Amino acid sequence: MGKMNKVLLASILSALPFTVAQSGSNILSFIKPLLGTVNGGHVFPGATLPFAMAKAVADVNGEDQGGFASDNSNITGFSHMHDSGTGGSPSLGNFPLFPQAGCSDDLLDNCVFAKDTRAIPRINGTVEAHPGYFAVSLASNIHAEMTTTNHTALYRFTFPKTPVEANATLSPLILADLSDLPNSRINGSIFVDDSTGRISGSGVFSPSFGIGSYTAHFCSDFAGAAIRDTGVFMNDRAGSEPKNLTVVQDGINNSPEILPAGAWTRFHAPGNSHNQILARVGVSFISIDQACSNAETEIPDFDFDAVHTDAQQAWTDSLDVIDVTPGQGVNSSLQTVFWSGVYRSALSPQDYTGENPLWNSTEPYYDSYYCIWDSFRSIHSLITIIDPVSQVRMMRSLVDIYRHEGWLPDCRMSLCKGFTQGGSNADIILTDTYLKIKSISDGMDWETTYAALLTDAEEEPKNWAVEGRGGLTSWKTLHYIPTDDYDPYGVGPFTRSISRTVEYAYDDFCIAEMAQALGHTADAQKYLERSNYWRNMYNPNQISTINGADTGFTGFLQPRYLNGTFGVQDPIFCSPLLNFTSCYLNPDGHETYEGSAWMYTFFVPHDQASLIATLGGPAEFVRRLDYLHESGLLYIGDEQAFQPVFQYHYAGRPAKSAERAHFYIPSQFNDTVVGIPGNDDSGAMGSFAALTMLGLFPNPGQDVYFIIPPFFESWSITNKVTGKVATVQNINFDAAYQNIYIQSATLDGKAYNKNWISHSFFLDGGVLELTLGRNESAWGTRHEDLPPSLSTSADMTGYHGDW
Ligand SMILES: *[C@@H]1O[C@H](CO)[C@@H](O)[C@H](O)[C@H]1NC(C)=O
Ligand SMILES: *[C@@H]1O[C@H](CO)[C@@H](O)[C@H](O)[C@H]1NC(C)=O
Ligand SMILES: *[C@@H]1O[C@H](CO)[C@@H](O)[C@H](O)[C@H]1NC(C)=O
Ligand SMILES: *[C@@H]1O[C@H](CO)[C@@H](O)[C@H](O)[C@H]1NC(C)=O
Ligand SMILES: *[C@@H]1O[C@H](CO)[C@@H](O)[C@H](O)[C@H]1NC(C)=O
Ligand SMILES: *[C@@H]1O[C@H](CO)[C@@H](O)[C@H](O)[C@H]1NC(C)=O
Ligand SMILES: *[C@@H]1O[C@H](CO)[C@@H](O)[C@H](O)[C@H]1NC(C)=O
Ligand SMILES: *[C@@H]1O[C@H](CO)[C@@H](O)[C@H](O)[C@H]1NC(C)=O
Ligand SMILES: *[C@@H]1O[C@H](CO)[C@@H](O)[C@H](O)[C@H]1NC(C)=O
Ligand SMILES: *[C@@H]1O[C@H](CO)[C@@H](O)[C@H](O)[C@H]1NC(C)=O
Ligand SMILES: *[C@@H]1O[C@H](CO)[C@@H](O)[C@H](O)[C@H]1NC(C)=O
Ligand SMILES: *[C@@H]1O[C@H](CO)[C@@H](O)[C@H](O)[C@H]1NC(C)=O
Repeated sequence: MGKMNKVLLASILSALPFTVAQSGSNILSFIKPLLGTVNGGHVFPGATLPFAMAKAVADVNGEDQGGFASDNSNITGFSHMHDSGTGGSPSLGNFPLFPQAGCSDDLLDNCVFAKDTRAIPRINGTVEAHPGYFAVSLASNIHAEMTTTNHTALYRFTFPKTPVEANATLSPLILADLSDLPNSRINGSIFVDDSTGRISGSGVFSPSFGIGSYTAHFCSDFAGAAIRDTGVFMNDRAGSEPKNLTVVQDGINNSPEILPAGAWTRFHAPGNSHNQILARVGVSFISIDQACSNAETEIPDFDFDAVHTDAQQAWTDSLDVIDVTPGQGVNSSLQTVFWSGVYRSALSPQDYTGENPLWNSTEPYYDSYYCIWDSFRSIHSLITIIDPVSQVRMMRSLVDIYRHEGWLPDCRMSLCKGFTQGGSNADIILTDTYLKIKSISDGMDWETTYAALLTDAEEEPKNWAVEGRGGLTSWKTLHYIPTDDYDPYGVGPFTRSISRTVEYAYDDFCIAEMAQALGHTADAQKYLERSNYWRNMYNPNQISTINGADTGFTGFLQPRYLNGTFGVQDPIFCSPLLNFTSCYLNPDGHETYEGSAWMYTFFVPHDQASLIATLGGPAEFVRRLDYLHESGLLYIGDEQAFQPVFQYHYAGRPAKSAERAHFYIPSQFNDTVVGIPGNDDSGAMGSFAALTMLGLFPNPGQDVYFIIPPFFESWSITNKVTGKVATVQNINFDAAYQNIYIQSATLDGKAYNKNWISHSFFLDGGVLELTLGRNESAWGTRHEDLPPSLSTSADMTGYHGDW
């Protein structure tokens, strides 16, 4: 998913002398969770653990997709579950707490309850965010801090000695609101216990980018002050009776402006010198009881500092498999971009194991695949490298979703089916996992995985907006998705005929790889054949102009009718240069999704050799790729733009991929709050930056990493399962990035001329040494040095034979 941002085509940075050595615990000092929290980044900057369900942050009434935004919007509360970097409407944010130090004149009715009424500015300069911790001071002089365990948020509110509320003495009131960020509540119930102050409840809500509804539960307990009184509120009026309420939709006051409702607990002045009250909120998708027991088990003693320390340790343990030696003079802001990118790639999918109310299973259950259309391009590749155990658990959970719901998701959040944006791209990450880490994929059921892929390829679901593929009959008989498709077999948005065709072709290629590897050779041949269908939408005669001037390139993917005739969609349409915002997932969308035919013409990840021949040979291909990058046609803030940065490798010009990498980083990826060019989409932008800076960028769905010089002098990554260490070293490294051209390379001391490497490097370890220079060299340029392509490689599957 993407939201358009200003596209800046800036030049390469010149770094200044400044360096910090890093390893182990000081990694965390380079992580800036606030990076990407304005201008469409939508990053969740709050407290959480790697891949954990609890995600606590202050919620704002501005750009609230990630809960908080680094702008001037006001804070409406503190909630416990979020998604990160998504476009569209915000996700989760259920049951926010909101603290007040006292009510004016000590009258309950003078406290504020409804979200709109209570929204309050932050005090400028008080936001503090680091892994496992978030803090901000409200204009009411309440300082709010938060940290988390896997299913529980712990808040520490420090109240002012004198409340800002008129004529109030310190008597804090904390309310819990039966709402969520998108105000999607369908119904809900809340209870407050007058003796303990415990507030618990449940609500039914809608997912942010999908269909159906989900039920969430919470349980909040307090420590630090004696209970004064308790009650509920409705529509900004509060009372001390009753102690519970249930809200349903009344048919008039429905969403998005649901009626404010919730419960509150009021305290006497805290009994501690810091004027602090701790609020512990357990969450669950199973029951209130489970929300309470999650909280009681994970945080028995309300020890904020201990939970915070454990959270930091969890992040250090998760990330210190990577060891970076930045190199003399490397700007520390680049290290911040790198480490923050790695960090954001470990926020989602979220481990909801034990919290799935939909079916009972001994398999792991992960949620917030938000969305695989985005995450297949780099997020899962990075997770596969740094945390293969979690990657395998995620893939097992995808297969379990198929077992119980009949289909793999392309997007999923909050236990609901999310919208498919193009192909059935779970096929790609499952195949990628097989090719790379099958040997360490304990518990993975590959035959069921294969059945899931075949279902995507062969059966059309009734609602292909949320699973599988549409137009399968045309796909099988006409070998493309017609613009005017006749498809009485299922419903979905009948748009994106070009982008769906090329995605289906690549998904089928990945299925062919899996078929071949599992010994289903007839299937393999069938899906290989289907992987060529991208050609059927290529119109060799189509030209492209910009403002009337010919771009000088002929031959683009174009819409095609049922009768075989080509239609026309301006090849630059849906690019930043023309009507980008007309090409989202709307019923009135167009033939390409969030990108132009210009760009989608490059999307043949499995057969670049054939594409290069089709487009006029390597030199012409490079000229066209240059044009794509330099004309403003490519928006790097949307994930389909990642691969074209590295496609020069297939034309024997790995040097140009390195130039492009430096063209985009740091000009579009930097360490400011604006620092990413589009929606982070659960870490897509972060993992793109991180993998690019490591100098090994994947072609997901194939066991291929393109080699460019890392942005640091050297790095090592320890495989969490095999214990083996992969190291890349730059010789002649310079922080000004003038030496970005590989002159020669060795792998474990032997000459290495291929411009790509496979995942065995990470599984088995090794030392890749790159000797750099100021000019493009002959390294990696010969035909036999290039990454594999279907049409030129003898053995197209498995990638373990000779290419
Ligand atoms: C690091 O780079 C940023 C821009 O990317 C620049 O503003 C800053 O001055 C540099 N800092 C140092 C210490 O070189
Ligand atoms: C934030 O609150 C302040 C003070 O109540 C108000 O002036 C301002 O308009 C609010 N801003 C937003 C974005 O709600
Ligand atoms: C915080 O700073 C912004 C400018 O960056 C200003 O517009 C806003 O009014 C300030 N808010 C407060 C509460 O001082
Ligand atoms: C949190 O969940 C992860 C799995 O996602 C698990 O490895 C870790 O042990 C859990 N932490 C605790 C404290 O239970
Ligand atoms: C406090 O209460 C008194 C009388 O009850 C009133 O006159 C005064 O305005 C109040 N102070 C404020 C700041 O509202
Ligand atoms: C709440 O909504 C769910 C889903 O629509 C429904 O099953 C349930 O009966 C509703 N509960 C109440 C109390 O209305
Ligand atoms: C409060 O809870 C009690 C016991 O569960 C129930 O009987 C009663 O109907 C509830 N009242 C409201 C207003 O929901
Ligand atoms: C899962 O098992 C529990 C305990 O046996 C049962 O209460 C629950 O209904 C089951 N859930 C589903 C979705 O089958
Ligand atoms: C094919 O169908 C399109 C769209 O209906 C139409 O414009 C075109 O004229 C048809 N071509 C032929 C050869 O019938
Ligand atoms: C392109 O965008 C312009 C406004 O920028 C709009 O008027 C026009 O209808 C759009 N065209 C299409 C085909 O969406
Ligand atoms: C930082 O990145 C953002 C988003 O790509 C970009 O708009 C901005 O110009 C960059 N800032 C600098 C100083 O390069
Ligand atoms: C590198 O190329 C430039 C021209 O781009 C040339 O002037 C220079 O001499 C070359 N340097 C080396 C070391 O070959």
